[in-house]
Amino acid sequence: MSLVLNDVTVSRGVGPVISNVTLEVKPGQITTLVGPNGAGKTSLIESIAGVIIPSSGSVVMNDVDITKFSKRKRSRAGLAIVEQGRMIFPSLTVRENLQLTARTKSDFDEAMALFPELEKRMNNNTVLLSGGEQQMVVLARAFASKPKYLLLDEMSLGLAPVVFMRLLPVIEGIAKSGVGVLLVEQFAHLALGIAEDAMVVTSGRVSYHGSPKKLTSDAELMRKSYMGE
Ligand SMILES: Nc1ncnc2c1ncn2[C@@H]1O[C@H](COP(=O)(O)OP(=O)(O)OP(=O)(O)O)[C@@H](O)[C@H]1O
Ligand SMILES: [Mg+2]
Repeated sequence: MSLVLNDVTVSRGVGPVISNVTLEVKPGQITTLVGPNGAGKTSLIESIAGVIIPSSGSVVMNDVDITKFSKRKRSRAGLAIVEQGRMIFPSLTVRENLQLTARTKSDFDEAMALFPELEKRMNNNTVLLSGGEQQMVVLARAFASKPKYLLLDEMSLGLAPVVFMRLLPVIEGIAKSGVGVLLVEQFAHLALGIAEDAMVVTSGRVSYHGSPKKLTSDAELMRKSYMGE
């Protein structure tokens, strides 16, 4: 049982932005994917989420080939995505945002319990929240759908590291509850610090795959991986 990307190539406009990438996300584990701007991280996430369909290769979730599934069908099968850029619905309250995805009262309550500090903001329009609180809502909303796999694309965008650090133990807790997490991050060291598995993507190709610790403790390896050497 896992979420697998098999030899996937994604083309956009001029040509391939992802070339023959294979990766696996296991239930209960965090796989952190890092790489320079424009490396193809979002394209990779979008090919798993069904935003774009790979030109070759396959996406398999718990032994079901979902390569051709629509976004909606993937989400019903247990895939949740937090897309790059803040995706709250600003005219809705915190409660209403979570109600969009929570199917039952207990799913709603479990998601709210991730961030006790949101409790007093429950009936506030999310537009009034801080950037950090908005990302809490986004994460809680994704968790409320009870996903088997969760794809997180640059949740830290626009946040100070210290604010993003509040999200990290929660992401870890979500994984511990059995969810497979694919974490794409610009704060590489923070995101690799909570991962079981690490990947670096450069120019649409995997330039490192292995231990997160090995990567964070070796500046030269990190540099070379980012350079695609
Ligand atoms: N909608 C699009 N149409 C055409 N090309 C695109 C589109 N979106 C991204 N690209 C191109 O695909 C390549 C990979 O972009 P992508 O956004 O996947 O990278 P990224 O690693 O997520 O970058 P960032 O760190 O800036 O988020 C880039 O060359 C980019 O210009
Ligand atoms: Mg991106």
